[in-house]
Amino acid sequence: PFWNRSAGADHVFVASHDFGACFHPMEDVAMAAGIPEFLKRSILLQTFGVQGRHPCQDAEHVVLPPYVPPEVAPRELPEPEKAHRDIFAFFRGKMEVHPKNISGHFYSSRKVRTELLRLYGRNRKFHLKRKRYDGYRSEMARSLFCLCPLGWAPWSPRLVESVLLGCIPVIIADNIRLPFPGVLRWPDISLQVAERDVAGLEAVLDHVAATNMTTIQKNLWDPMKRKA
Ligand SMILES: *[C@@H]1O[C@H](CO)[C@@H](O)[C@H](O)[C@H]1NC(C)=O
Ligand SMILES: *[C@@H]1O[C@H](CO)[C@@H](O)[C@H](O)[C@H]1NC(C)=O
Ligand SMILES: *[C@@H]1O[C@H](CO)[C@@H](O)[C@H](O)[C@H]1NC(C)=O
Repeated sequence: PFWNRSAGADHVFVASHDFGACFHPMEDVAMAAGIPEFLKRSILLQTFGVQGRHPCQDAEHVVLPPYVPPEVAPRELPEPEKAHRDIFAFFRGKMEVHPKNISGHFYSSRKVRTELLRLYGRNRKFHLKRKRYDGYRSEMARSLFCLCPLGWAPWSPRLVESVLLGCIPVIIADNIRLPFPGVLRWPDISLQVAERDVAGLEAVLDHVAATNMTTIQKNLWDPMKRKA
């Protein structure tokens, strides 16, 4: 009865992890199931989003960062540029060697993660791991660059975790819509690499390491930015 009296207009939904407004990793499946239509009048608080109009964003919605527990950001962590960071570029997560075709869908859509593994899996500057490991945040704290490639969705909690741990996030997810752009200038604290430019990733990171890496690290540690 609570839903029916307003068709959901006085309902608020929170999607604070991987799934976005469609509450499903495969948007077309969610659309076919009528989820966006069902939620049309509700308010959604959701992790990130995509640029432009999208059926799954066709509701009143606020893009917010994914939930990350406060203990992820230890107070005693040294400033990023002073910390000993022995890993150049880091990624731990699902990377399929042979991506499965699930009714026309591939994980990491344009197979970005598979490409990363193929191109840099044996490159010693890249610490790429496919196995789950709960201590991955300690690895982020040891890294200069943390790769944030898209999975089923463009966004992942990695982006916020790496900011909190002083590791420069490298966003590889075309059309991603980042949270709170009015207060957080993402280009100051992150790098964005187009999905089609993954082959040039090492050159981009080398260039930044030789030029403005310290600037980005200092920006990352700005108390106002961290608070936001
Ligand atoms: C809510 O509305 C639907 C159809 O619009 C109806 O099938 C359902 O029984 C209603 N639920 C309640 C609890 O009134
Ligand atoms: C993936 O599967 C779909 C059907 O489920 C098929 O139409 C498509 O050609 C396949 N793509 C590739 C690259 O194998
Ligand atoms: C750092 O350098 C890169 C590559 O030249 C550039 O794209 C980026 O905007 C710069 N970032 C900052 C914060 O200076």
